[in-house]
Parts: sequence; C-alpha cells; structure tokens
Amino acid sequence: MNNILFVASECAPFIKTGGLADVVGSLPQELKQNEKQEVRVILPLYDEMDEEWKSRMEYLVTFDVEIGWRIQEAHLFTLTYNQITYYFISNDFYFTRKGIYGYYDDGERFVYFSHAVIEALKHMDFRPQILHGHDWQTGIAIALANIKQPIKDMKTVFTIHNIKYQGVMPVDIFEDFFQLGREHISGMEWNGMLNCLKAALFHADKITTVSPSYAEEIKEPFYSEGLDPILSERSKDLIGIINGIDMKEYNPVTDPSLFVNYRSARLKKRENRIKLQQKIGLPYKEDSPLYVIITRLVEQKGLHLVQHILEEFLNEDIQFIVLGTGEPEFEGYFSDIASRYPDKAAALITFDEAIARQLYASADFFLMPSKFEPCGLSQLIALQYKTIPIVRETGGLKDTITPFNVLTGEGNGFSFTNYNAHDLLHVLYYSLELYNRPDEWQQLYKNITKNQFSWKESARQYVALYDSLLPELIYG
Ligand code: GLC
Repeated sequence: MNNILFVASECAPFIKTGGLADVVGSLPQELKQNEKQEVRVILPLYDEMDEEWKSRMEYLVTFDVEIGWRIQEAHLFTLTYNQITYYFISNDFYFTRKGIYGYYDDGERFVYFSHAVIEALKHMDFRPQILHGHDWQTGIAIALANIKQPIKDMKTVFTIHNIKYQGVMPVDIFEDFFQLGREHISGMEWNGMLNCLKAALFHADKITTVSPSYAEEIKEPFYSEGLDPILSERSKDLIGIINGIDMKEYNPVTDPSLFVNYRSARLKKRENRIKLQQKIGLPYKEDSPLYVIITRLVEQKGLHLVQHILEEFLNEDIQFIVLGTGEPEFEGYFSDIASRYPDKAAALITFDEAIARQLYASADFFLMPSKFEPCGLSQLIALQYKTIPIVRETGGLKDTITPFNVLTGEGNGFSFTNYNAHDLLHVLYYSLELYNRPDEWQQLYKNITKNQFSWKESARQYVALYDSLLPELIYG
C-alpha cells in the first residue's frame, strides 16, 4: 500500500478559486481506483467554507504549532467524502477571514499552515510515505519535511500548477518564522527574498507540473518567472503530467444545470443557446456562430490580444459572450463592448457555475488564447460539451488541442503560435470560414465527439512516479 498525503490550499467541493481545486478534488478519486494507493488530503479550514461541510467534520485534536519563537494553536478536524479522508487545520487568527487569499500576511498564513501540517503528522492515524504538496502555499511544508524528517524515510513530491505565484517575503523574517540554523536560508531564498515555491523546488524529491509542454517551458526565462536556473538544475527530477477532468461531473448527458441534456446533437446545443440568450437578453441569431470566453479576467488568459481585435471580428456575422470577473481593466472593456454591440455581444461580469455550464453547452467556439497555461481545464470541459476550442499553443493547451487539418481531416480545434493579436484574428477568421463549410465542419465536430481527457492515464503516471520513490515491498 502506498500512503500519500496531499497538501493543498484548496480542494473541490469544499473550497475553490480555480483549477487547482478541481485537480486536488478529482485526482485522489481516480488514484483510489488503484487499490495500492491510499490518498488523503490536508487543507486549511477556512471560515468561508459552507456550513454544511463544517457541520459534517469531526474534531480530532488540538496541538501547538511553533512558528519561530511564537506559538499558535491548531485544531485538527476530519471528514470522509466519497471514500476519501480529508483533514482540516483550523486556526482563528489565520483562517477566520473572508475569502481565502489576498491578505498582506498570506505568506505568514501559509508558513503557519505548512508548520501545522508537519506537526499534524504526529497526531493523525495515518503514516504517509509520500507528502505531495501543490503550489507555493505548501512549499514550506515540503521544505520542512525534508529538513526535519518528521516521518522516517518519508519522500516528497511537489506539483507546480502555476509558477507565477511564488509566496515571496523579505528574507529577514526567516528567524521569525523558523527555528532553524541559518544554513537553511539558502534553500529557501531566491534573489534576496524568502520564496516558498523555490523552497519546494530545492527540497522536493520529485517535481511535477501539469503538462509536458509547461515542464519544458518553465526551464526558459519567458515562462519561468525567474526560476529557470533552479528548474534547469533539477530537470532530471521534473516531469509534466497532463491533468484530466472529472467525466461524471462535466457531462452534458446528465448535467442538471443545462436547459436540455444531450450527447452530441447540435440541434440540442442550439436549444440550450436559444434559452440562455433569452435569459440574458441577447437576441438569438440563427446562423451566426457563438464564440465564448469563460475565465478569470486576468492577463494570463490572453485578454490583451482579444482587446486588440474583438471589434474587428464583431464586424462578421457572429455573436460573442464573456463570463467571468477579475481585473477592472477587462471587466470595463467587455462591459463597454456589450453596451455598444447589444445585438452581438454580452458581458456577464460575475461567476456563476450554472451559467458557465449553460454557456459551454450553447457555444460553437470556446476562446482561450492564454499567454501561458500550465494545463488549462476549460478547453477540456469545452470538448466535453462539444464546443470547439480556439487556443494559443502553449503549455497544456498545446498538449491537448491539435489544430484541425483540412487535408488529413484530423484535429480537435484551432490554434496559433505567437502571442500576437493578428495571429489570433487570423485563426478566428479561419474558424468562421470552416464553420461555413459543411463537410469540414462535420468532420471536426465528429472528431471532438470522440475526444476524451479522463484522469485514467494521468493517474497511472502519478502511480508510476510514487512507485519510483518507494522501495519495493518485500513479502515473505
Ligand atoms: C492553474 C493553472 C491551470 C491549471 C490548473 C490546475 O490554475 O493556471 O492552467 O489547469 O492550475 O492544474
């Protein structure tokens, strides 16, 4: 039996701000299909979580956590959901706040969480052989696992979901946060700052990221956010494993949010579209394809490219809907477009899971021209809902979307290479042209109905990685 403990700052269905939560939520479910794996998950207990979850948690124990010279309490809770055991660390000072991130002391909050995870190992009825951390919030837990060896021979895996966020603090807090010799500063420090992500990259036995292409990209300065030297140094321990999605969760045949359920019938997609446009007040126009964007409205998602060319593309016979919230610059831009093109465009500046799914079901094209994209889950969800992705060839987008080739009839979307607005516009025109060529459109649509990105193969690769870290069990 491989005992694995996931450490993360978010996990669906308990608490979610992005794709990280989907992965931490669904990967253990798939890993448990392999009987050799026992995966459990430890998370902070945020005030923000629904009462319903909190009321189902069982209190286990209270213990002290030393953060440098200070002592903070931790209350450990547990909950079993879908046959997975979850642990939650509660502390009023750090986690009884609105939302989950965005505080001036986020660095300290997750240093506390990391210390608490290491301490919690002594109080759980579970002895992990592998501690598997996700993103910067857990970087210090990986470092401390290696430095303090709380469990003999425990190994560590660290997954980068997004290298842009690193958890950076002034280095002189080292003495405030750790009772460790100064020789440990260098492993946690980068460019004169304490850096939680770097600490994990330095200390983890194995490093993974969420697509093979991103694993290559982050060794280069354009994508590495300054960390390429350390990733190049550790490249033999770095692998990319593509994320999957939960096929049961994202299934147009059963999704209760949809107006009309369907397997692949385009007519039924159309019915969803008519109802949705009625609901949001965008007049439905037969024969003009619907292009959508569903995302956090942030620069990463390539929205500056969209800004450059959207009005030009709106001259064509198309409709456009955006759903999401984020930076005021983009919220303002899309609202303005919607008010100036009331018959062609709508901007839903909100985040609503049900509307998101109705949009996936309604659209003909899903636009995701990201500047960088470690994996990206939305393009996979789009495929599930039979909506054609248009992406920039980067990270996981490159690894999951193959541009449609009219000569061979292969491919499951459209893509462009350079981070350039006119290249995007060009591929948009091309998508429209193909939409109006029935034979080719038919072929492309047929291709995507066959496409599946489940967790199966990816989970197999994680198991192989865990196995490579653990000594063979000798029976006898
Ligand atoms: C981050 C990345 C996204 C990835 C997700 C899950 O949100 O930006 O590309 O799909 O993590 O790994």
